[in-house]
Amino acid sequence: MANTVIIGAQWGDEGKGKIADMLSEGSSLIVRFQGGNNAGHTIRVQGRETILHLIPSGILHSHTLCLVGNGVVLDPAVFLEEADKLAARGIDVSPARLGISKKAHLILPYHKQLDKAREAKRAGRKIGTTGRGIGPCYEDKAARVGIRAGDLDNPVLLREKIGHALLEKNALLSGLYHFEPLDPEKTAAELLALAPRLVPYLVDVEARIDEAAARGGDILFEGAQGTHLDVDHGTYPFVTSSNTISGNAAAGGGVPPSFFTRILGIAKAYTTRVGSGPFPTELLDDTGAYLREKGHEYGATTGRPRRCGWLDAVVLREAVRLNGFTDIAMTKLDVLQNLPALRICVAYEYRGQRCERIPQEEGALAHARPIYEEMPGFEDDISACGGFEQLPAAVRAYVRRVEELVGAGISIISVGPDRRQTIMR
Ligand code: GDP
Ligand code: IMO
Ligand code: MG
Repeated sequence: MANTVIIGAQWGDEGKGKIADMLSEGSSLIVRFQGGNNAGHTIRVQGRETILHLIPSGILHSHTLCLVGNGVVLDPAVFLEEADKLAARGIDVSPARLGISKKAHLILPYHKQLDKAREAKRAGRKIGTTGRGIGPCYEDKAARVGIRAGDLDNPVLLREKIGHALLEKNALLSGLYHFEPLDPEKTAAELLALAPRLVPYLVDVEARIDEAAARGGDILFEGAQGTHLDVDHGTYPFVTSSNTISGNAAAGGGVPPSFFTRILGIAKAYTTRVGSGPFPTELLDDTGAYLREKGHEYGATTGRPRRCGWLDAVVLREAVRLNGFTDIAMTKLDVLQNLPALRICVAYEYRGQRCERIPQEEGALAHARPIYEEMPGFEDDISACGGFEQLPAAVRAYVRRVEELVGAGISIISVGPDRRQTIMR
């Protein structure tokens, strides 16, 4: 039995969806454990692309049970839309193979409005959130005033909680942000209108995990975002509002930390970031544009162009440490083709000194200058390569050097978006 956690090692969009889909083949149960529809996880099978925001990336394999864990913040309408889209393609999304934890918190219209209102007011200090209401929903969870999925089955409680929440939200929305206040009865009625479709999906996630484990099946825990968007350890305040690191797979999935046997980090062969925040290896030149076009680096959720830059081994080293990666899947190596040389940031220069770790003071990373090591590039198309030894020497050297620099082995190499364009080492 292998219980694997999948974690983004950088700032998100590392290719977690592709790898989760691939590993789902051998898994009986997939659990998403944090984030919400700020995520966009892309899977490509025989040329057909599927982008998932909430439903776990195991759904394309007919034998899997896919569960949304308690750590997720769920937008009810988005969940149903996503399920409907899959159903229209003949994919079984019945409650027999898809479920939502009763403990997962729901994103309500006021969360989305507050997210947008706050961003609009931040003027020069925008976080560049996805506007999906993620932060405000997690705030309410921590403030103990959140609406949970299980409440959908209790209209009296749901109405009472929404009424209570809106006393405060409406004061903020209309008083401070000059937005239209929301009507509590209408808000509750709109949510309750979705309840008949959602309630059948409510499950005891922990019980399903126990059952799957008792049958000896492999279980996958799918993370969203990336290590450096973690609310504690990321580039605060330019982070998301949940813990994205492996430690939260236990809290957000409903299992003890001892449950996991493999912590797989997903790292892009270069670095990207969407939204604001420090990014030492960002390339604002032709090379950055080359990576963006060749790598199709446009957000799977918002369509925003992703900022692109060289691989940052300092960022990865910290991700290895924080998550305890047993191994790494390196994605998008094919995108580095035809660059005359490849650069890896091995340390920073910060306050006139060489610095091997990320400086922790707020805003400090914006002043860290990357110290690069240069390696030869490659011209061959590697997107059809089936084995590590078939890769050009320059690519193998790059992979090995990254392993040395970050202190973890690279067990999976992805050379194209398709499920099959993957090399297992
Ligand atoms: P996620 O959020 O971590 O699941 O990643 P996204 O789906 O947001 O972004 C990754 C993008 O890269 C998607 O468009 C994938 O189809 C694509 N992709 C994944 N692996 C590879 C790869 O090895 N090579 C190329 N060229 N594209 C890849
Ligand atoms: P996946 O799972 C990349 C970024 C946003 C913004 C910050 C906060 O596809 O890798 P939020 O809406 O979460 O409050 O926004 O986090 N962000 C992501 N960036 N990939 C993601 O998810 C992201 N989810 C949030 O762009 O900078
Ligand atoms: Mg993504």
